[in-house]
Amino acid sequence: MQLAVIVLAAGEGTRMRSSLPKVLHSIAGLPLIGHVLSTAFALTADHVVTVLGHQKDLVSEFITEHFPSTIVTEQGPTPGTGAAVEAGLAALPKGFKGEVLVLSGDVPLLDVTSISELVEMHRDSSNAATLISTILDNPNGYGRILRSQESLIGIVEQKDASESDLLLTEVNAGVYVFDRDHLDNALLNVTTKNAQGEKYLTDVVSIMLEQGQSASAHPINDHWLVAGINDRHQLSQVAAELNSRIVKAWQLAGVTITEPATTWIDVTCQLGTDSTLLPSTRLHGLTQIGAKATIGPDTTITDSSVGQGATISRSQVSSSEILDNSSVGPFAFIRPGTVLGAEGKIGAFVEVKNSVIGPGAKVPHLSYVGDASIGEGANIGAGTIFANYDGVTKHRTTIGAFAKTGSGNTFVAPVTIGDGAYTAAGSTIRRNVESGALALNPAAQKNLSGWVLANRPGSKSARAINLDTE
Ligand code: UD1
Ligand code: CA
Repeated sequence: MQLAVIVLAAGEGTRMRSSLPKVLHSIAGLPLIGHVLSTAFALTADHVVTVLGHQKDLVSEFITEHFPSTIVTEQGPTPGTGAAVEAGLAALPKGFKGEVLVLSGDVPLLDVTSISELVEMHRDSSNAATLISTILDNPNGYGRILRSQESLIGIVEQKDASESDLLLTEVNAGVYVFDRDHLDNALLNVTTKNAQGEKYLTDVVSIMLEQGQSASAHPINDHWLVAGINDRHQLSQVAAELNSRIVKAWQLAGVTITEPATTWIDVTCQLGTDSTLLPSTRLHGLTQIGAKATIGPDTTITDSSVGQGATISRSQVSSSEILDNSSVGPFAFIRPGTVLGAEGKIGAFVEVKNSVIGPGAKVPHLSYVGDASIGEGANIGAGTIFANYDGVTKHRTTIGAFAKTGSGNTFVAPVTIGDGAYTAAGSTIRRNVESGALALNPAAQKNLSGWVLANRPGSKSARAINLDTE
């Protein structure tokens, strides 16, 4: 039996009150539609169709980039989930016969297992429609499942429900398997005569039953799996729930996470065993953390890799590579293009951008390193500035292996310091320094004796002057 998946994502998402389409709002680092399409493609379906409408260009840009084999189609002028499914069916290859699984673009946590079970139940029955429901303490906003003596007889939307319907707590999850032929026939009979003037997909259930087919709804216990997102409050609630599941899965896989409530990990991150995440750590995008690394507290890492045994504390790291057993922070700002070699160190209040710091090299304190290559084992003195920008173009600075540069240096790029060279404290280095040399260019110091007494008489400084030593 062939299976087609239709993902509904044409709705306006008015309750989000956003200029961004609802399905492009993200949780755990992926837009809602990304979660749903990842699941859809994990199902080994023959076709995956996404129905777009509201702000279709933005959504379709994301889909073509990340899920290029999706058939993208557009809903016509009639509003409603039923009309959206009609558009999806029309986009299937001609003559497609088989089962149609309908998913909502705003139900991100539904998993492959639950959907596969639904498809199995449908195949084991003689149903024209089989759907997932769940029981909610607060069913507000959802369509209610109507039953007579336990059998499904229909679905009523919140806005069309009678007072007694509103008391029902079993809700429609918005996830269905249909036989294509029966679905086509039932949709022909769906009207827009309801409170919202929409063609509801949910109406096909009672229509199929009237046409003599059977249908059933199967409650699942884990109601989070079918949580639909309509507003930003629900977005944050579902995001928090998903995050706590991701955190738990990593804990069970051997990662120490001391404060789950303040630790956020995108679905796209990878962590090695015996790594530790301290409070307020956030890992985003394609970040990979090696075994036995310690991250946090108060650290955000995006699209970066961190080697085994590395330590990063109270820092921000983006699009960079931090190699094995190196250490970063506290209070470091690591910008894109940074590579910190094994056993290297980027210390307190250091900003690094687009620079390679060799194995065992150290930038321990209060420095800006931009567009530099720092050789193995080099040591950069406290308070050093790599002056990489002449106002027009960026230039590189190269520091040789095992070079030792003094505190308070300014390297005016482009400039090269040779292997094993030294620079004196307070130097401004404008010319290359050859290997093994000491560079120094401090202006001769002048002391103006008696200046304070002459110019700041009566001040605390003046009173502090010990005349015996003058
Ligand atoms: C829908 C169901 C409701 C169910 C709930 C579960 C209907 C009529 N109601 O209600 O029974 O309890 O989901 O989450 O189906 N969409 C389109 N085109 C449209 C309208 C919506 O593609 O014209 C898409 C939306 O983008 C969204 C999905 O369909 O991804 C659901 O639409 P939404 O408006 O959120 O429906 P609900 O009111 O939540
Ligand atoms: Ca919804």
